[in-house]
Amino acid sequence: MRVIGTKYAGLDSAVTLFDSVDEKFLALQSDRVSRIKKDNLDIDITLKYLISRNLIPKKIDIISIPFSNFSGQDCILEMQSPTFFFLKKEKIARKYIKPKYYKDLIDVDFITILKSKLDIRWIYFNICHKIFSFFRQNEKLNKSYVKKTIKKIFKDNNIEISKIEFYDHHLSHAASCLTIDNFNKKETNYIFVLDEHGDLNHSSFFEWKNNQLKKVSNSKIEKFTLDNRDYVTSLGAVYSNFTEALDLRRSVDEGKVEALAAYGKPNKNLLKILRRIIKVNKNELNFFIDVKNYKKFLTLNKLKKFRKVIGDKNFSATIQNFLEISVIELLLIYKSIYNFDKIYFAGGVFANVILSHKVHIALNLKAVNVIPYMGDEGSSVGAAVLSLINNGENLNKINISMPYIGDSYTDKETIEILHKYKNDINFNDLRENWINEAARALKENKIIATFYGNMEFGPRALGQRSILANPFFKDTRDRINLQIKKRPWYQPLCPSILEEDREDIFEKSFYHKYMSTAFKAKSKFKDIIPSALHVDLTARPQFVTKESNYLFWSLLKNIKEKHKYGVILNTSFNLHGRTNVLRPEDALIDFLDCNLDELYINGYKVEKKI
Ligand SMILES: [Fe+2]
Repeated sequence: MRVIGTKYAGLDSAVTLFDSVDEKFLALQSDRVSRIKKDNLDIDITLKYLISRNLIPKKIDIISIPFSNFSGQDCILEMQSPTFFFLKKEKIARKYIKPKYYKDLIDVDFITILKSKLDIRWIYFNICHKIFSFFRQNEKLNKSYVKKTIKKIFKDNNIEISKIEFYDHHLSHAASCLTIDNFNKKETNYIFVLDEHGDLNHSSFFEWKNNQLKKVSNSKIEKFTLDNRDYVTSLGAVYSNFTEALDLRRSVDEGKVEALAAYGKPNKNLLKILRRIIKVNKNELNFFIDVKNYKKFLTLNKLKKFRKVIGDKNFSATIQNFLEISVIELLLIYKSIYNFDKIYFAGGVFANVILSHKVHIALNLKAVNVIPYMGDEGSSVGAAVLSLINNGENLNKINISMPYIGDSYTDKETIEILHKYKNDINFNDLRENWINEAARALKENKIIATFYGNMEFGPRALGQRSILANPFFKDTRDRINLQIKKRPWYQPLCPSILEEDREDIFEKSFYHKYMSTAFKAKSKFKDIIPSALHVDLTARPQFVTKESNYLFWSLLKNIKEKHKYGVILNTSFNLHGRTNVLRPEDALIDFLDCNLDELYINGYKVEKKI
């Protein structure tokens, strides 16, 4: 059976292929292909890339979509008829704008806007978009246009599809947990999903028992329009309202709010207001949101006023603290009923690593397992899993080696690109010896980039598309943040650590290889690995074993010889506003565009010509 799970348009759009015929499993986010961070177009560009790389069959049995509600009630544009016209408009506009990276979408000049707006096709689709938006609460119309849009994307790429299946959004998030190797399908497991909204819900709790996923309870959103903008009522949406009130990018920069929160203190008055508006409903096991007071206090204009009074750090600390205590309160009730000692988390809100860390401690659990593709790219994986289960396919037939399930490049393809850039670089073929050379560079406090094997799926780079540096030096974090990635000073960088050193470094921990939850380090490590720990001593580590990534493990072992602990700073290989590099050429472009010292790509050492 060949199944494609896909969030076919919008933020986090992605294609995942489960092919039990050729025993293949791969996944790719669309913004990796376009390199426009959090791109909101459809998967057309991703399908074209996969076809050009011979990675996708021409006949697909099922297309699985991780949404199922066509009522037009929750602002999910992907499930409404205007989407069809929105995508047409966007593509026409981009023919004139020709964006290469995210900044090009912002820096649009008057002439390019004028050109696209004078395009007769743009005018036509704009009128249709407006008309269909008026009818967007018509379920039949929505379903017919959503199907039409999906079919067209595949038809335009000469891919034959037999049927389309739609699955509940949170059920899809939950099903994605079945693909991580520590999810024992024979045991009873519990999954909590929390995102901004999807199919009218924002939180759901699931029980996996006897090979079935059963929803225990969920929290509903409500939608309203105020000051010409749509609002939904959810914990995730409130966090994003705070993000936007801080003049940051909604649904993109929440990690910056989380990082800044560690420098502030929750404001008691604002926290009181939040706690009054969003409450845990003990009888229904969900969140209750008082919409009347939400409209009064939690809209953008109101929040901007709060921000002004209490300052950015305290403003961030308040929403972070509120999120933590609300989720912990609900999960404590679930724990008292189901008595679990570990839990699985999915949904975009769980990109917040401090949240899962606080749950781990407060509920005294053995482990909290945050799925590494917690955002909507992961719901594509889950929808495909549901199709496989419902159509009688054996999941165990497919070898899933998460999260290295992206594309890889051969030696021949790599050398071709290196020759293309020969005027700008010197390169050497080191084969396996690149590990020793990379370790030498790190010991000399150089900042390097690595590119080898299959690309990771999800937001984290786990060694194979990474920027690496030495955390034992104090200035490393600032050098990466300010000189290379152009990120705010307060954003932490994450370490990759030998699993054998985990218990020495952290207070309470468990084996976790995905860099998707935080742990608190013992205080003496503040001076030992100063660049790897945040101001509150937390870190979001990847623990590495020989089995999980042999080359990366070897590199860490080499570092341990000098520094006593096997720790390396590891951040995704991309520059500001760009996505993690996918192709060798992306790696060369980013390497040449910043102050990186050396690049190690598929066994070649690359340096810039002076
Ligand atoms: Fe979601």
